[in-house]
Amino acid sequence: MLLLNPRAVFGYEANSAVRHGLLGCGNRGTGVATSFAQNTSARVVALADIFADKLAAGQDHFNKVNASLGQPAIDSKLLFRGPHAFEALANSKDVDLIQISTPPYFHVQHLETAVASGKHVYCEKPVGVDIAQTKHALEIAKKVKPNQSVDVGFQCRMAPPIAALAEKINGGALGKIATVAGNYNAPASTEKKREGEGPDEYRLRNWLWDRVLSGDILVEQNIHIIDLCNWMLGAHPLKATATGGRNVLTHWGDIWDNYQVDYTYPNDVHFTFASTQFGNDGAFDAGLKLFGSNGSATCPYAGAIAITGSSAWSWQDSESTAAGSGKFAANGSFLDNLKYADRDKERTFIASIVSGPVHNQIAEGVQTALSCILGRMAGYTKREVTWEEMLSAEEDWPLGFSLEQFA
Ligand SMILES: NC(=O)c1ccc[n+]([C@@H]2O[C@H](COP(=O)([O-])OP(=O)(O)OC[C@H]3O[C@@H](n4cnc5c(N)ncnc54)[C@H](O)[C@@H]3O)[C@@H](O)[C@H]2O)c1
Repeated sequence: MLLLNPRAVFGYEANSAVRHGLLGCGNRGTGVATSFAQNTSARVVALADIFADKLAAGQDHFNKVNASLGQPAIDSKLLFRGPHAFEALANSKDVDLIQISTPPYFHVQHLETAVASGKHVYCEKPVGVDIAQTKHALEIAKKVKPNQSVDVGFQCRMAPPIAALAEKINGGALGKIATVAGNYNAPASTEKKREGEGPDEYRLRNWLWDRVLSGDILVEQNIHIIDLCNWMLGAHPLKATATGGRNVLTHWGDIWDNYQVDYTYPNDVHFTFASTQFGNDGAFDAGLKLFGSNGSATCPYAGAIAITGSSAWSWQDSESTAAGSGKFAANGSFLDNLKYADRDKERTFIASIVSGPVHNQIAEGVQTALSCILGRMAGYTKREVTWEEMLSAEEDWPLGFSLEQFA
């Protein structure tokens, strides 16, 4: 292996384009694929979506992106529409990398087909919305080929200030960690409505409001903070108790609008996590605080990232900042701590494809999804749930309608 050049091993020259196919031309998918195109050697060559309007909007957008980068427009043969679009994309010989940005319910099904195709895969979180899907994902993880790279969309780990903080914590800056607190307070998502649509289409387009399609707010949105907690503690929770409900939201759907979870990690370390998702004031506040024998660490999405105590430290671009100001970096270059998260996540992933070593992040993605499902199960059942109990639960959520009607 050492005698072979990277192209022979991985199939790419270091600076030749990785041909990128986007599955799910919505908000996040479009944003991430655009960022790949602008920040890496990946070039968007193919698009797939269940709905014609989303595919057309994607085509229009990426033709402009490609033109701005001196790249050709997307070949109409590489535009795939309908419920089998994911299979057509996976079968294409003109694509090297599939980005899965469909609603959470479909991630594992789409991951299975993408992994079986041998292409590299970037799959959005969460890896599964129920226990059956997460178990299936672990089987798929075993089928990833030795030259295939698979990433899961936990870009917060790659945000430079957060990565620097995690390294300090890992090096023992906090001493013995006693307890962790986290929150995710976000405004409500807005309704999507189309003339003449039926109830299933309405549900699919408003998947964020639907437990089965999204996994609920703990699994769909709060997962980023729970992932950071797992990562920084180097463990998953052993059990959880939780409360929550739907106290404010009155629109269609069955997601909760607030959660309060008490997770127990190894060594009796507790992680108290609270979240909300309602309102239209635009207020957004998410972050993590870790308290240890030698000091504490503060890790907000926006605001100063720092450690107090005997190993005091702060991210230099966050110095003399006012949290909540929205623009806090001393040098003005950082609007928030996640500004470079996507870019660095994408660059690291493309590097794994071009020069190796390849990634296989499915099992870790499943561990974080299960951590969220544990809190959700404790909330829904109103009792303490252990990790083992969760794994033996028969949770296999049916979609309840056929996608063939959108063929
Ligand atoms: N990592 C992050 O920070 C982050 C942020 C936002 C969203 N996300 C994740 O990204 C994913 C997409 O979210 P979004 O906000 O872009 O949603 P969206 O509704 O804007 O986009 C989803 C797209 O998928 C299409 N689609 C739905 N079902 C499909 C199917 N079966 N086959 C093919 N296409 C299908 C829809 O038509 C739509 O264009 C979700 O999993 C979400 O959790 C991640």
